[in-house]
Amino acid sequence: MDRRERLIARARQGYRLAYGVEPARFYAAPGRVNLIGEHVDYNDGFVLPCAIDRETIVAAGPLGPQTKDKLFEAVALDMGDMASARDSFDLLAPIRPGDNNWQNHVRGVVQALGRYGHKVRPMRIAIAGDVPIGAGLSSSAAFGVAVALACSDYSGLPLSPEMLAKVAQLAENDFVGCACGIMDQMAAAASIAGHALLLDCRSLDFMPVPVHKSLAITVIDTGLRRSLTESAFNQRRAECEAVAQHFGVKALRDLDYGTLLRAEVDIDHTLYRRARHVVSELDRVEPVGVALARGDAATLAQVMREAHLSLSEDFEVSLPPIDRLAQMVSETLGDTGGVRLTGAGFGGCLVAVAKHESGEAIDEAIGRYNDEADLPARAEVFRPISGAAEIVLE
Ligand code: GLA
Repeated sequence: MDRRERLIARARQGYRLAYGVEPARFYAAPGRVNLIGEHVDYNDGFVLPCAIDRETIVAAGPLGPQTKDKLFEAVALDMGDMASARDSFDLLAPIRPGDNNWQNHVRGVVQALGRYGHKVRPMRIAIAGDVPIGAGLSSSAAFGVAVALACSDYSGLPLSPEMLAKVAQLAENDFVGCACGIMDQMAAAASIAGHALLLDCRSLDFMPVPVHKSLAITVIDTGLRRSLTESAFNQRRAECEAVAQHFGVKALRDLDYGTLLRAEVDIDHTLYRRARHVVSELDRVEPVGVALARGDAATLAQVMREAHLSLSEDFEVSLPPIDRLAQMVSETLGDTGGVRLTGAGFGGCLVAVAKHESGEAIDEAIGRYNDEADLPARAEVFRPISGAAEIVLE
């Protein structure tokens, strides 16, 4: 059995244990790693995430024949014991937040579908996943998009990837309380196997960018997790919006570099640095996209190094051990690939995009880092897989 078959078997078994019958359908959505364009999505810019071969799987089926109520029932297999891992709510009553965080990811999606005018029919789901939680690989976007797809498709509503992403984002923004942008949900919904996704976060236009066959995408988990990530994230977003307002533009995407540089003395220095990260990052997305498609490791090395520094010094979402590890890996890679902090930051993962044969160099740098670090880092190579889809079993 491969990874996905094991996950499907787990979702099927959980469904059977919870409801006593076989599920009718299966759906999947992947986690993602962002290659470039960090903290740019909620500033309406371009980003380049890539789906990874880790997914949330949702098994779905009808309510029992004797149930007259219009219920939605859910069981989450990775969220504690059978009691706290179950949820049930009335589809005809207003949907309110539940006791557990995971419940709100489900309830929020069903409510968001309703707010977009899509009626979910009474149904049951079981959810299983293998996207690492809290590592910055968007386990919650995979979860939200997989649930949105299961609910809509099972209810006979064929929704576009953009609509699935918007539904999952609205659920996170309003029900879970994270002011996240649309990047993670779009990556989970619209990715194409073997490609990264160049996404315009304003228009939601997207274009697959092939990952050159000479390159491997390695995620290095630092093991570091900082609490209060959501409040720090929301604060960064508010800072960016304050600068956009100062310059009278809709979003930082509309601010040109020269105008920002000339205004350095007029605005608060922290706000200035936040904006400098975003505006400079916007210029890094295209070169990384081109280098990814061409297998141009030297450009990746240079641009990703600049991107990491900008996140660390201007946007201040890195941590000292992460900076140290990024530097060690970057020096070891030389011109054979790039490495930088990926995702929201405040802990989490580095991403390296490097020649396949540089795998040993990456491991060697991590080994040296681990000799002196409090928490060991570990690396894993991911394959870019497709976005959300129903799984058709043979
Ligand atoms: C988190 C958010 C995304 C994006 C990234 C930073 O993953 O969910 O919307 O803002 O951080 O690029």
